[in-house]
Amino acid sequence: MPIMEKEAASGRDSKMLPKVPVPPLKQTLDTYLKCVQHLVKEEQFKKTKAIVEKFGAPGGVGEVLQKKLSERRDKTTNWVYDYWLEDMYLNNRLALPVNSSPVMVFPKQTFRDRKDALRFAARLIRGVLDYAVLIDARALPVDFARGQLAGTPLCMEQYYRLFNSYRYPGLKTDTLEVQMNAASSAPQHIIVACKNQFFVLDVVANSKQLIETEILSQLEKIMTMAENAAERLPPFGILTTDGRTEWAQARDALTKDQTNRDSLALIESSLCVVCLDEPSGLDPRDTNRSLLMLHGGGREKNGANRWYDKSMQFVVGMDGICGFVCEHSAFEGIVMVQCSEYLMKYMQVGPTGSPSKMAKASTVRELPPPRRLLWKCNPHIQGLLAASGDRLQKLVNNLDMDVFKFNVYGKEFIKKQKMSPDAFIQVALQLAFYKCNRRLVATYESASIRRFQQGRVDNIRSATLEALAFVMSMTDERATFSDLEKMRRLIDAINAQTNYTIKAITGLAIDNHLLGLLRIAKELNMQKPEIFCDETYLASNQFILSTSQVPTTVEMFCCYGPVVPNGYGACYNPQSDHIIFCVSSFWENTGTSSAVFVKALNESLLELRDLCSRSSAAATKRADSGPGAGQRHKSGK
Ligand code: COA
Repeated sequence: MPIMEKEAASGRDSKMLPKVPVPPLKQTLDTYLKCVQHLVKEEQFKKTKAIVEKFGAPGGVGEVLQKKLSERRDKTTNWVYDYWLEDMYLNNRLALPVNSSPVMVFPKQTFRDRKDALRFAARLIRGVLDYAVLIDARALPVDFARGQLAGTPLCMEQYYRLFNSYRYPGLKTDTLEVQMNAASSAPQHIIVACKNQFFVLDVVANSKQLIETEILSQLEKIMTMAENAAERLPPFGILTTDGRTEWAQARDALTKDQTNRDSLALIESSLCVVCLDEPSGLDPRDTNRSLLMLHGGGREKNGANRWYDKSMQFVVGMDGICGFVCEHSAFEGIVMVQCSEYLMKYMQVGPTGSPSKMAKASTVRELPPPRRLLWKCNPHIQGLLAASGDRLQKLVNNLDMDVFKFNVYGKEFIKKQKMSPDAFIQVALQLAFYKCNRRLVATYESASIRRFQQGRVDNIRSATLEALAFVMSMTDERATFSDLEKMRRLIDAINAQTNYTIKAITGLAIDNHLLGLLRIAKELNMQKPEIFCDETYLASNQFILSTSQVPTTVEMFCCYGPVVPNGYGACYNPQSDHIIFCVSSFWENTGTSSAVFVKALNESLLELRDLCSRSSAAATKRADSGPGAGQRHKSGK
């Protein structure tokens, strides 16, 4: 069983919410066909259609699986939770950096010296401790949905996993362990990484949490200890940057020794990791800061100054490059944003500021120094460290990242067009992709299903037929489409996207459902149903375009890597007058280029604005020259 909750969460607030529904089988199958028809060849689609019809026929396999799935819904709190977690994260063998762990990038901080950076880290840690207390007391205010179908309460369980989760690597599948203890037995230490060394920083002394000045003094001791070259140990953190199977094998080798077991246990049971990074030497522009958060800059920079299995890793660079890295299996980006916004507000940090002066405390205690974690190495482990370092280096060299701030307009302009900003941006992404590739591909947009108990996400398949019709009209070289027609198609595309969004956030999208049917068949030891072996199904799950809206109310942004070798990651943060896009791809794939995609995206957004502006000007003109126009003028309305 790969997901282990050590004790049941109180789940008070969550139990009030409805359970995720199981959508009607026919609805899912019809939607599936509609989603893939224009993305595969005609011949292939005919084959797929026949397979799907057979699967969904009365008395067919689909009905049997649907019935079992409905029974599972009745018996469990959330029928899709475990299936989804394993499929999305725990079974994935790829390395966590770049491929899985999203990051938040803070504005570049200006530190005068190392002490200034440590002051920032001390305040950050203090903020984390305060936030953890709120979580333990279940005292965070319940989130309510915004945007589409606003106002419904959302499940808060993801917050309860922020500081007490650990993802163990496994040879075949990982395990997410969540310690749902009473607040009194919550973790009392954090791990500080500095110069690839790991230190235990106890945050409670004599039953009292450390105050900020005490934390600062402990961090200074850590810095001094880390600088002692004679005591420096090999960079064990690099093992956690590796593929999950490789790391699981390495971990097996490590755990043969008691010293290593003790060190691992302390990391695993910690509240979080704080990485004090060495200056990277890179120009701190947005793209470089995001790269450094995603992979630490590799072996030669801060790549080994990490422990990727731990859910929350805060990074404080001595050069002011700061942010955090999240192990994604325990929670979604939105929860991570709420946490970082709390911390940023707590720290009162602006784009140029360092934390406001630390209050002088009269009761600073003399504390024992933090402990360095010890590791036992041997030639075999030495070889593993080198191999992990090589593979990290490959990943670092392969990531093509482009952070693009589109400054011409933001969501207010889009709202004025009476369109959903999210749907509009999704259509712009489709147009950009089409401009680059002359085709659309399976696209993933994460949709929150936190309206339901233990809700995580489902997928909005944004490459709709309507989006294809629109992008074709916009890119038609013969210029045969009038603005009126393009606008009609744009509205269709936006409506299709918005309708899919509403379906997804109300638990009626198709991806979770199809996964559920597949997993039930496996549990029943049935032969894999043909629908899931079909080429179309396999292709439709290769998300060449993987997108996600992660909005913030404080200056910072989220980014992540592509999910397939030939794909793009596109995370966006819509603001009222601008939109931040973080586009990622892999250099090794000759068919992708983040810079080319960004250029097409910029063009697409401008063309969309021009089309909307021309159309509304034409509509105003038509209204003004229409019958009764003069009278309207006279009334002054
Ligand atoms: N005319 C005018 N305004 C409109 C509009 C229209 N036709 N349609 C929507 N709007 C407004 C909304 O009321 C909302 O207003 P607000 O800013 O005052 O709240 C705003 O535009 C944004 O709405 P919209 O763009 O439609 O998107 P949304 O906020 O509903 O977001 C999703 C859609 C899918 C992104 C969201 O439901 C979701 O699931 N988010 C979570 C994604 C996630 O999990 N990301 C992290 C993954 S790790």
